[in-house]
Amino acid sequence: MFGRMARYYDLLYAAKDYDAEVRRLVQLAQRFGRSKGRSWLDVACGTGRHLELLRRSYAVVGVDRSREMLRLARRRLPGAALRRGDMRTFRLADRFDVVSCLFSAIGHLRSYPEVRQAFSNFAGHLKPGGLVIVEPWIDPTTFRPGHIHLVSHTGPEEIVARMAFSSRRGDRSLVHYHYLVAERDRGIRHLEEVDRGLLVSRADLLGAMRSAGLRPRFVAQGLSAGRGLLLGTKPL
Ligand SMILES: C[S@@+](CC[C@H](N)C(=O)[O-])C[C@H]1O[C@@H](n2cnc3c(N)ncnc32)[C@H](O)[C@@H]1O
Repeated sequence: MFGRMARYYDLLYAAKDYDAEVRRLVQLAQRFGRSKGRSWLDVACGTGRHLELLRRSYAVVGVDRSREMLRLARRRLPGAALRRGDMRTFRLADRFDVVSCLFSAIGHLRSYPEVRQAFSNFAGHLKPGGLVIVEPWIDPTTFRPGHIHLVSHTGPEEIVARMAFSSRRGDRSLVHYHYLVAERDRGIRHLEEVDRGLLVSRADLLGAMRSAGLRPRFVAQGLSAGRGLLLGTKPL
C-alpha cells in the first residue's frame, strides 16, 4: 500500500473535503487543547492535504513511512518539515500542541500492542495540555464483510478505476482492491492489492490512550469518512 499506488492517491480522493475536515480539526483543537501554542504534527500525513490547509494557521510538521507519499507531500509543500518515520518509533526533538493521525492510518498497525506503542509515541511528542486527534479505522461491530465500492477518476492523461471488496479474518479487515489504470503512454494495466486493517474496539482504543497518559474521549461528529474521532488531552 502507498508505494506504487501513491501517484493515484490524490486522484482517487479528489472529492474528499479536506477544507471541511481541517475546519473541524481546528475547532476541536481549540475546544479541547489546553496548551497555548500553534504547532501541529500530522503523523501518517500522506500527500500532505491536511498540512497544506493547516499551515495557514499552524507551524506544521509531517511524518510518514512511505517514501512515495512523502515525495508527493514535498512537491505540494515546498520547504515544509516532512520526515520519514514509522508512527510507532519516530523521534522528533520538538513537542507539539496537536498531534494528529488521520484517515484511519492507525488501522495499518498489526496488533493492539503496536497501537499502544504508537499512542504512547504521540503522547511523548505533545506539550503539556496538548491534544492527540486520531481518526480510527471502522469499529469491529460495524465493519461489513461483503461491502463493495467503486471510485474512479477520468482525466486527460489517465483514467483510474478502483473496485473494492471487503472481507474479514479474525481481528483483521481485508479490503481487496483491483485497479484498472489507463494511461496515454502505457495503455491499460490491471493492478491488485490487499489492505489489511486492524479491527480494534473503541473501548480498547480509548484504553490505549489512557495507558499513554492521556485523558481520552470519543466524538461521534468527526471527519468525512464518518468514523468519529478519538481525542486525548495531555494533563497540564
Ligand atoms: C489512508 S493514508 C492517509 C494519508 C493522510 N493522512 C490523509 O488523510 O490523506 C495512510 C497513510 O499512512 C501511512 N502509514 C501507514 N502505516 C504507517 C506507519 N506505521 N507509520 C507512518 N505512516 C504510516 C501511509 O504511508 C499513508 O500515507
